[in-house]
Order: sequence, then C-alpha cells, then structure tokens
Amino acid sequence: QQSETPAASAEASGAAPAAAEARTYVVGTDASYAPFEFQNDKQEIVGFDVEVLTAAAAKGGFKVRFENTPWEGIFATLAQGDRDLLASAITITDERKQSMDFSEPYFEARQLIAVGKGVTDVKTFQDLKNKKVAVQTGTTGDEVVQKLLGKTNPNIKRFESMPLALKELESGGVEAAVGDNGVVSNYVRNNPQNGIATVEDTQSFAPEYYGFAVKKGNKEMLDKINAGLKAIKEDGTYDAIYGKYFGA
Ligand code: ARG
Repeated sequence: QQSETPAASAEASGAAPAAAEARTYVVGTDASYAPFEFQNDKQEIVGFDVEVLTAAAAKGGFKVRFENTPWEGIFATLAQGDRDLLASAITITDERKQSMDFSEPYFEARQLIAVGKGVTDVKTFQDLKNKKVAVQTGTTGDEVVQKLLGKTNPNIKRFESMPLALKELESGGVEAAVGDNGVVSNYVRNNPQNGIATVEDTQSFAPEYYGFAVKKGNKEMLDKINAGLKAIKEDGTYDAIYGKYFGA
C-alpha cells in the first residue's frame, strides 16, 4: 500500500489535507464459502460478497483489502480491531446485533438440506430428527439443527468450514448436512461424483438476510457502506453482479 500524498506536498501545493484520500478498510472473510467468498487459482479472494463490497466501496469513498479469516473467531477480530469490517455471508440476527452493527441487507438466503448417497427417507427438515447432520460451527445452520435435534445431541457434527462438513457427507460419515442454500447448492452442483443431493424444503426455513458487519457504534463506516450499497443498487451494478453469480 503506497501513500500517494505526503502531507508536505499537499501543503506545498495548497491542496486539501490527506483526509480527502480514501481509507483502506481491512475486511475479514472466511474464504471457503463459494460462491460468496473463496480463493481462485491465484489464491486471490473472490466471489459475490467481494464484488458487491468492492463496488459499494468505490461509490462510498473507501477502499477494501480482504483478509482470509477463519469463521470461528471472526466476530472477535472485529471486536478486537484486527478487522474493520466483515464480509462473510453473515446472516443478520438479533443476537449478533447485540455485539455488532450490520449494513442494510445485501442478499436473501435460506437454509438448505443436502443428503448423502442412498439417503432416500429425508423429504423435509423434520426427517433429520434421528439422522447424523453436519453443519459449520456457529452458523445459522448450526442453530436451526440445534433447535430440531437439541443443542448437545451428538448426532450434530460440527466443522470449521462448510466444505469440511460437505466432505463428511460425501464420505458417508453423516446422512445430511444443513447450510446456506447458495453454498450447499453450489457444492452439490460442482461435485456430482459422490451422489450427494439437495432436498427441496423451503417451508421449514425462514428467509435470512446477509449484511456486512462493523464494530458496534462505527456509524461512520456503516453510513459509507450503506451509501455505497444504495448507489450500486440504483445504478444496476448490484444486479449485474447478482446475475453473474446467480443468473439474472
Ligand atoms: N449465513 C450463515 C451465518 O451467518 C453462514 C455464514 C458462513 N460464512 C462463511 N463465510 N463461512 O451463520
């Protein structure tokens, strides 16, 4: 990162002080969550969230730098100031709102069930009652499965990342996995070799809304993000990104 305008030269030229320069915010993201955030062949962090936030930043007058950050502990990095904001397909929940602030929603999601090869008796979420179910620890998927099976039920298998949970399903260690629909369907589509499949049951799950998270009280950053989001929703940029990832 180079600083283009040393204070001295700004002074000499009579230009406005460096405050006019866009600040770079460090963004925490668990980049194992395609198509929202993942690493491409060059190990760059890319995806829907990355494009939406980067476009919003351009309009909101700030810059962003993404840092791969494990989901477990991601909220702590915000509280401790290691990250300025989080873009990680984070569902806005009342509980999370107590400890951080969220931007306006930028995506609607829902939980989706995937079942392993040969599992034919799962038609609805209720059918998971006596099944082993894989989830990503501390996600809204973990929460809904806890509600059905009970928080301490050993049939809930928790994993650090969603790909690990889905690999467990592929290897037959669990009968089902539950997670965000965009990620689960993307994985199932891209991994046809092991016979896993999704189960259509939108009835059992409430809509969830993703937001970018900032440290509680950071109104300045939130205002910039929201202004940027509003601008890209109005000028068609958001729709173009949405179409690229999810079809128009
Ligand atoms: N939307 C879910 C939640 O907020 C899962 C998000 C997980 N994100 C990730 N990048 N691993 O709990």
